[in-house]
Amino acid sequence: MGVLQVQNVVKIYPGHSASDEPVKALANVSFTVHNNEFCSILGHSGCGKTTLLNIMAGFDSATLGRITLDGKPIGPPGWERAMIFQDYALFPWLTVVGNVSFGLKTKKLPPDEQQRLAQRQIELVGLKGFENRYPHQLSGGMRQRVAIARALAVDPSVLLMDEPFAALDAQNRSMLQDEMVRIFMEQQKTMVLVTHSIEEAIKLSDRIIVMTRRPGRVKADIVVDMPRPRLEESPAFVAMKARIRDLIHDEFDLTEVPAAQASQA
Ligand SMILES: Nc1ncnc2c1ncn2[C@@H]1O[C@H](COP(=O)(O)OP(=O)(O)OP(=O)(O)O)[C@@H](O)[C@H]1O
Ligand SMILES: [Mg+2]
Repeated sequence: MGVLQVQNVVKIYPGHSASDEPVKALANVSFTVHNNEFCSILGHSGCGKTTLLNIMAGFDSATLGRITLDGKPIGPPGWERAMIFQDYALFPWLTVVGNVSFGLKTKKLPPDEQQRLAQRQIELVGLKGFENRYPHQLSGGMRQRVAIARALAVDPSVLLMDEPFAALDAQNRSMLQDEMVRIFMEQQKTMVLVTHSIEEAIKLSDRIIVMTRRPGRVKADIVVDMPRPRLEESPAFVAMKARIRDLIHDEFDLTEVPAAQASQA
């Protein structure tokens, strides 16, 4: 199972000195990610997306409110909540198969079972033949495939992803999004993706949570009811993109943005 319930989560980062004001990153965030659902979290930079994912993973704790997995409050980081980061975070001293089977060691499975599960994930992400390469011998896209395989190998209840494709060039990004759709269809699993990209969210998700600006709250909870794979040119896709873009633009009050950022917006 993998039902993730976010209940009235507030996060305030305390200031470190008298001149350093506390930062309210999240204000009363509530939503549920259902079992085997792909849920994306969309919002402007600084609205608290990573903060929320870190709390889900157990790397940080909520100031108020709680998050449960299958009804139980989440504890410290564990294999049942696997995380994929933007910057791959592979172990450089381990090969592809070493990285992918790393988490399996903590599950104390027999070596041949570890090998079999690792190999299956390596094939699933299209890296057959690269088992004995080291991360520095791989492209960015291939490294992120290893990170995906490593996260899935332990068969987590929930897969958490923080902008996993952001460091890739447009072509690789699009390819890996397509692969993620295929992986999701093959291995139904509860997945939470943080992204800045409206297209990415629509391409991948069953549900999209649109956040307000900081302090982040849920601005909209949108069901994406389109068959996969989804074509960006389809009328339903285009309409949803416009709807979400409007919701996000509404949040952008240029008068409150520092000049340097406003000129890029
Ligand atoms: N450890 C921390 N200590 C103090 N403030 C923090 C800390 N981590 C994040 N913040 C602040 O909390 C707010 C939310 O940050 P967070 O990283 O969650 O945003 P985000 O939505 O992931 O942004 P981005 O899209 O740029 O990654 C920001 O104002 C940030 O400066
Ligand atoms: Mg972030």
